[in-house]
This record gives sequence, C-alpha cells and structure tokens, in this order.
Amino acid sequence: MRRLALTLLPCAVAVLVHLWLAQRPSSVPPDHNTHSDEEVPFYEVLVGVLSARHHYELRQAIRETWLGYLRDHPHFHQRVGVKFIVGEHGCPIPEEDREDPYSCSLLNFTEPVTGQGAEIEIVTVSDPSVLVPSDVLAIALDFKVLHPVVITRLGVFPSGTQPDLQSNVTVKLLQLDQEEAVVTARFSAISTGTMVNGMWYKPVEQFILPKGFEGTLVWESLDSAGLTTVNSSSVHLNDGGGVLKIASIAEGILPHRSALGFPGLAGGFTFTIYDADGLSGHLRGHPARMEHHASRLRQEDAALKQESLRHGDMVFVDVVDTYRNVPLKLLQFYKWSVGNADFNLLLKTDDDCYIDVDSVLMKIDHKGLKRSNFWWGNFRQSWAVDRIGKWQELEYASPAYPAFACGSGYVVSRDLVEWLASNAGKLKAYQGEDVSMGIWMAAVGPQKYQDPGWLCEKECYMDMLSSPQHTAEELHILWDQKRACGDPCGCPWGH
Ligand SMILES: *[C@@H]1O[C@H](CO)[C@@H](O)[C@H](O)[C@H]1NC(C)=O
Ligand SMILES: *[C@@H]1O[C@H](CO)[C@@H](O)[C@H](O)[C@H]1NC(C)=O
Ligand SMILES: *[C@@H]1O[C@H](CO)[C@@H](O)[C@H](O)[C@H]1NC(C)=O
Repeated sequence: MRRLALTLLPCAVAVLVHLWLAQRPSSVPPDHNTHSDEEVPFYEVLVGVLSARHHYELRQAIRETWLGYLRDHPHFHQRVGVKFIVGEHGCPIPEEDREDPYSCSLLNFTEPVTGQGAEIEIVTVSDPSVLVPSDVLAIALDFKVLHPVVITRLGVFPSGTQPDLQSNVTVKLLQLDQEEAVVTARFSAISTGTMVNGMWYKPVEQFILPKGFEGTLVWESLDSAGLTTVNSSSVHLNDGGGVLKIASIAEGILPHRSALGFPGLAGGFTFTIYDADGLSGHLRGHPARMEHHASRLRQEDAALKQESLRHGDMVFVDVVDTYRNVPLKLLQFYKWSVGNADFNLLLKTDDDCYIDVDSVLMKIDHKGLKRSNFWWGNFRQSWAVDRIGKWQELEYASPAYPAFACGSGYVVSRDLVEWLASNAGKLKAYQGEDVSMGIWMAAVGPQKYQDPGWLCEKECYMDMLSSPQHTAEELHILWDQKRACGDPCGCPWGH
C-alpha cells in the first residue's frame, strides 16, 4: 500500500506527489498479466467509468468536461487516470429477438403448430401412477410470458389414481408481487369441472397476458393432504414452442422469498397463443433481422476501435455488453486494473455521472482517505430485493441486501480491488453491479465511510461529489456552471 506520510494543503500535496513520483524506483514488479519489463503507470486515483458500447455521446461529454479538465491539469493529470470500461462484444441478437431488454438471450420460438385459437395444455397426465400426494398446503408455479397468451382454463390433478376429487382446491393466477388474483377457479368433490387428459378443468375469464408478464399459479387446499402433485422427473411441460418460460419444478428447488407456495405442480392450465399470425411473421423476419444486426455490430466494432485509438482511454473487457452483465464487466475491470495500473484508490462511476473532481481530490487530501480496507460512498441499508422487472433478483434469497453504495460513484482502496480481482472467478454476479459489490464486500467487511455527497438520484447540490442519470447535454451544463461560478446547479446571473 502506498500512502503519503503527511496531510498538507491540497496544492502542496499535489507538488509533493509530483516530487515523490519522480523519486519512485523506476522498475515496479510487473504483474503476470502485463507485458514484461514495461512499467505500469502509477495513479493515486484510478477512475473506472462503466460505459455501454453505444454511449459514444456520453463518453465524449465526459472527455469534454471533467475528464478533459483532469487530463489538461498540471498536477491532476499525474494523480488521476481515467478509463472507460466497455464490453468487447455486442449482443449478436437483435433487440426484437431478445427475451428482455436487459440480457442477450434469444427468444427461441418454434413455429406455432397449433393454429389460431387452439388450446395448449401445459401438462397432460397419461399415466395416473405419476401422481403423488403432497404434504404442503400450497404449491406454486412461476412463469414468464415471452409472447402474449390468453389463459383459458385452470386445472387440478385428481386425488391419486382415482379420478375423483377428495378435497377442496383453489387455483389462482396472480401477477408476481400483486395480491389480487387475475383469475381464480374453485374445485370440490361436488364441483369438479370437466376431466380432460387426466386433469380436472374449469374455464376462466380470458385475459390477454402481455409479453413480459411475470405470473405465478397457486394451488391451495385447507386440507393437509388435499393437493396432489407429480414426480417432476416424469412430466414434460409444454411451453407452446417457447411462448412461456416456466420455472423449474425439479426436486430440491427452494421457494423464493415472496413465493405463495412450494415450487411444483398440482395441476395445470390451458392457454392459446395470442396473434399466432404475428408470431409466425416475426419468425419469418428473423434471418433478415440477424443479418442487418450483424452488419450494424461490425460498424459499431470499427467505430469503437477508432474511438479507442484516438483517445487511449478505453478498456475492453471480455464480456457481452448487456445490462445483466454489468457486474461481470466490473469484475473484469478490477482484474484489468490490478494487472495494468498501479494506484492507491479506485473510483468507480458510470458514463452518465457528473463528478466534481476537485472536491473528490480535496476530500481525499483533507480527510486522509488513502487508507486500506476502505470503502467511501453513499450507502443504502436494508434495501428490499426486487423479484420482477429490470432489477429482478432470483438468486439472492434474503429479503434485503447488505449495505451497498448507490449509483453515482464510490471509492475503494487498492487492497479491496486486489481481493476482488483475485476472487473474480468465484464471485457470483447478482442483479446490478452496486448490489453485487455490496454482497461481495459484506464478505470482507471493509471500513465504510458514509458520504451523502455521492448522490443516489438525479439531483443537484452545490457541494455534491457526483450526480447520476444525466444526458450528455446536462453533463456539459453542470460542468460549465461549475467552472463559471463554482455552482454546477446554476449561476446567480443565469447562463
Ligand atoms: C432452441 O430450442 C430448441 C428446442 O426447443 C433447442 O434444441 C435449441 O438448442 C434452442 N436454441 C437456443 C439457441 O437456445
Ligand atoms: C368444499 O366445497 C363445498 C362446495 O363449495 C362446500 O360445500 C364445502 O363446505 C367445502 N368443504 C370444506 C371443508 O371447506
Ligand atoms: C420419479 O421418476 C423417476 C423416473 O421415472 C424414478 O426413477 C423415481 O424413482 C421417481 N421418484 C419418486 C419419488 O417416485
């Protein structure tokens, strides 16, 4: 750990760093990742700016504002190095063919063979011996809609090998994280509905479930032996050629925090594919979309290469550049930084963030923040784990995340970056790089320095250290005002 022995006024420190740098031994032991014999550059603060491949305008705005200021500053250009962290690979799948906007998974549909309006049963029971009594009061099946469908009937398995129903069972279809059922069917010995392919069914009101709908089907019985389930290894679920993504019902799957029942199957449902002609048209258009997208990606690759050659401030990490992969991008950057730069502190931020670099550096000097096992940010405590949408988290089982630094920026000491880099292969990526970092850091227990100056939301205060979610134009305005009168939020004389 390199640190300065004295705390002086910021400009004096800058001069001291300057002198001290000049006295450093000329050969730093190279990391095995770097070119041998080449000395890696030393920065007091290495800044990593997470940036999506297509965010050229934001990168340019940063180069023309705080990054340019650092680069042209007589002392700061030695103290601070800035790198944009960009995924080396674009997603090869066109956006219209992805499961959701955040990942790079193919919507893998097969041509609907059922024809318009035909009902599809997610499961059929040809052999009643696969049915087994369940000892739980509620069973739930989660699913996600990848092309719009209409649920037509809800069903329950008969009680064992006899076709009758011995208990009352309620079947509900709910939207995840919503209390009220979309549709409900009640079954009892005297009201069984109709038997089709080994299942009792009742029709329900037909709602169109849109693409992206995340739902759960729940079977409930007040009777402890009221539900019948199946040996999961002996059933095959029909997802309508990929229009539904159905959660696993394999043995040993844990229910998630807000689950309304034990994962499994106590019946089924039937559905029709909404706008099957539209789905066929979409499938026919796929090859042309792939070709067009591939040529766009080649252009993007060439433009990124040019940009990197021109500015020398980009680090390409071996990751497909999607939102879900951002935690992996960050880990790859930590690995890169340990092997390719020498630094005391690492500041991580995003390409839409304004950074008051003067204030950050001044605070490092005044507060003597060049410590080890140290994490400086604006921490969120007891933040609830989301089950759906952009921040969907299915892997982290607790209801709340450990403390994590919110979006606009944080600073970590080099020893922590080294720990992250050397454990990168074993660290699990959760949803969002900020909460992932919080979970990883909870294993280490660094000294946290809470500072509300790293804003979590798009707001403006004169003394803020950073502020997120800005457009390129806003980054320019904030910076221009800061330079003109010292207040990024506006000058008394307007602008
Ligand atoms: C698409 O689905 C088919 C079967 O439904 C499977 O064999 C194939 O591997 C899948 N392709 C991709 C890219 O997931
Ligand atoms: C089961 O449902 C039937 C018909 O709805 C009802 O008459 C009966 O009381 C219910 N039994 C129990 C135990 O709830
Ligand atoms: C489930 O089915 C598999 C294969 O059909 C069988 O080997 C296994 O013993 C069954 N398990 C139970 C609990 O019945």
